[in-house]
Amino acid sequence: MKIIATGRYLPEKVLSNADLEKIVDTTDEWIFTRTGIRERRIAAVHETSSYMGAEASRQALAKAGLNATDIDLIIVATVTPDATFPSTACYIQNHLGATKAAAFDLQAACSGFLYGLVVADQFLRSGMYKNILVVGSEKLSSIIDWTDRSTCVLFGDGAGAAIVNSNGTKSQLLSCDLGSNGSLHEILYLLNSNTAKANGKELGPNGACMVMAGQDVFKQAVTEMAKSARKSLTQAGVEVADLRCVITHQANSRIIDALADRLKIPKEKTFSNVQRYGNISAACIPVAMSEADEEFKFQPGDKILLVAFGGGLTWASAVIEW
Ligand code: ACO
Repeated sequence: MKIIATGRYLPEKVLSNADLEKIVDTTDEWIFTRTGIRERRIAAVHETSSYMGAEASRQALAKAGLNATDIDLIIVATVTPDATFPSTACYIQNHLGATKAAAFDLQAACSGFLYGLVVADQFLRSGMYKNILVVGSEKLSSIIDWTDRSTCVLFGDGAGAAIVNSNGTKSQLLSCDLGSNGSLHEILYLLNSNTAKANGKELGPNGACMVMAGQDVFKQAVTEMAKSARKSLTQAGVEVADLRCVITHQANSRIIDALADRLKIPKEKTFSNVQRYGNISAACIPVAMSEADEEFKFQPGDKILLVAFGGGLTWASAVIEW
């Protein structure tokens, strides 16, 4: 597998912490010290997950010098699909005119993009497909309870995309680790009519919304991402000192710092954009990869650790060689 290009799309509308102070009982100081977030992007009505995913994909296609018809498979990771069906991948296939591509969605919450990358790698290794588009796209503003200050300050909207192909030589994916623990599903989930009925709960006046036990999620995120990252590093035979950059799920700067602390990763190797976008779930890693490539100016041979965590619970990590 070789990542030949990345792309990203962030809606224009910025919602700052000061704006949130007018919506719920919160302060910029509380949000920033607890999360590192200053602002997030909020999608307009027409900016659905498929719209944003298609825009990020167009940027990646242009950088790769490929046409949409060169894509054999589209994998989309999202918890905010345009519709339950058809898949957001099918909508993106249509937006792009990727007429030769198979398309499906994959759901592993915030770990979804890394799960998608590993699935794409399997198709490339088997020789079934040559060019695969992997997208993480989220419109989390549509599933936020805007009266709940403990969650609404954390999330935002956006999309990232990567095009991977079989380069015929050594794979860029040196190692990977995927994991889950469904017994902790209740600490982070979407309360919709089905989950409410099954658990004897009431849907609020705003309909389906995210429910989260913040401190439990925090602890699990740090523990599982650290374990997973160590596994991937060991499997790849790569030391922290050999890494050029670490790109983690962008949920909260304190989670990123705690993880870096556990793995003894120097601050200058850790990429973060959580201050500008908040948590965009499955879009975090591809948006961060696309921005980190510009900031770090990755060169062939650079080793990068990717690590994510999300509802499920799920987690994923990978070591790639640029
Ligand atoms: N503004 C002001 N006060 C607030 C806010 C807010 N936005 N939200 C909560 N508070 C209050 C609480 O009501 C509580 O008040 P009390 O002491 O009077 O009861 C107080 O602040 C402390 O609340 P805690 O929940 O204990 O605050 P904590 O320090 O744990 O920080 C936070 C909360 C930021 C949510 C933290 O637990 C966290 O970051 N957890 C991880 C969440 C996360 O990243 N989730 C997503 C990861 S997976 C994925 O991406 C889907």
